[in-house]
Amino acid sequence: MAEKLRVGIVGASGYGGVQLVRLLLDHPRVEIAYLGANQNAGTPFGELYPQLAHRIDRVCEAVELDRIVEACSVVFLATPNGIAHTLAPGLLAGGLRVFDLSADYRFVNLETYQSWYGGDRHDAAVARAAVYGLPELYRERIRTARLVGCPGCYPTASLLAAAPLLKQGLIDPRSLIIDAKSGVSGAGRALKTGSLFAEADSSVAAYNVARHRHIPEIEQICSDLAGMRVQVQFTPHLIPMSRGMLVTLYAQLRDPGLVSEDMLTIYEAFYRQAPAVRVLGSGIYPQTKWASGTNTCFIGLEVDPRTERVVVLSALDNLVKGQSGQAIQAMNLTQGWEEMLGLPAIGFYP
Ligand SMILES: NC(=O)c1ccc[n+]([C@@H]2O[C@H](COP(=O)([O-])OP(=O)(O)OC[C@H]3O[C@@H](n4cnc5c(N)ncnc54)[C@H](OP(=O)(O)O)[C@@H]3O)[C@@H](O)[C@H]2O)c1
Repeated sequence: MAEKLRVGIVGASGYGGVQLVRLLLDHPRVEIAYLGANQNAGTPFGELYPQLAHRIDRVCEAVELDRIVEACSVVFLATPNGIAHTLAPGLLAGGLRVFDLSADYRFVNLETYQSWYGGDRHDAAVARAAVYGLPELYRERIRTARLVGCPGCYPTASLLAAAPLLKQGLIDPRSLIIDAKSGVSGAGRALKTGSLFAEADSSVAAYNVARHRHIPEIEQICSDLAGMRVQVQFTPHLIPMSRGMLVTLYAQLRDPGLVSEDMLTIYEAFYRQAPAVRVLGSGIYPQTKWASGTNTCFIGLEVDPRTERVVVLSALDNLVKGQSGQAIQAMNLTQGWEEMLGLPAIGFYP
């Protein structure tokens, strides 16, 4: 039996961290060698998450570079934006492979990052070497990457819905409108007024309209796919459910003669080699419940001949394909393992 890969998780006490622990405990080729936290440093992980105490007997440790380098070959950074770039250069210099779940390493241009996220960055060379961790679009680059900037839930659901349209020049890119809905766990485990039950329950609202931080990231990848500068209209909404995300994308067709069946054939061909994406049959539209707990993104679509628009719907679990599962998928690629190894593909239902 081959030696297991020693992996660490910084930010283990958060929602992304606990998903990583859950998924990595069931991964056949890895062992969890380090858990790191901030305010929860010193607390046994099983005290934070008693439902996992029988499977993992580790204490969340303070985040110390030397300790991580000594313990691990691979590390996941499940920390708020602005932390990874203070850790990744040292971790890479220590020979580790790094998977960042925050926005720190998703941008080709650090000026774009700074104008939307603020803060000082002194790691331009490191950021340039990072690979955008969406396997469906950048699989070959991820295989050899040492630093992967894993996209989050909104960009993943939006880009998987948009990619075939942009890559094959099927739409007017200026007409791209993305309407997105997220469950409350999208905001993380830290206390926030908007995440309180009394605020979020029985209510739906948009937020950060025309200025959400994921806009420049979605535009960066859309532009790469289209081979020209693309701007998108992106509106996120908070929905009263714990987890899950639904994106509805609208765009004007270049060829109004295309019908839904043509478009489905194009999507099926585009994602034929993508085990984490399921293109649904004609007239079937995805539900977040189908994706819950899985690393699968479900896609459905319809061409509206009346308006000459295409409507694409994508549903995923914000904490799995939209976060931790995606990072594990990328790790599997860097190790030469089957892409979905250890990742759940079938959810609970109902
Ligand atoms: N939630 C989602 O649906 C989602 C989806 C995609 C991507 N993301 C991204 O994934 C990352 C983690 O999100 P999350 O939802 O898991 O957040 P979270 O639940 O708030 O957890 C954040 C984690 O980071 C740790 N942390 C905070 N400040 C730190 C510091 N200065 N140094 C080291 N560790 C620190 C926290 O430790 P303590 O608890 O000990 O303070 C906690 O373990 C974020 O960048 C987020 O944008 C989130």
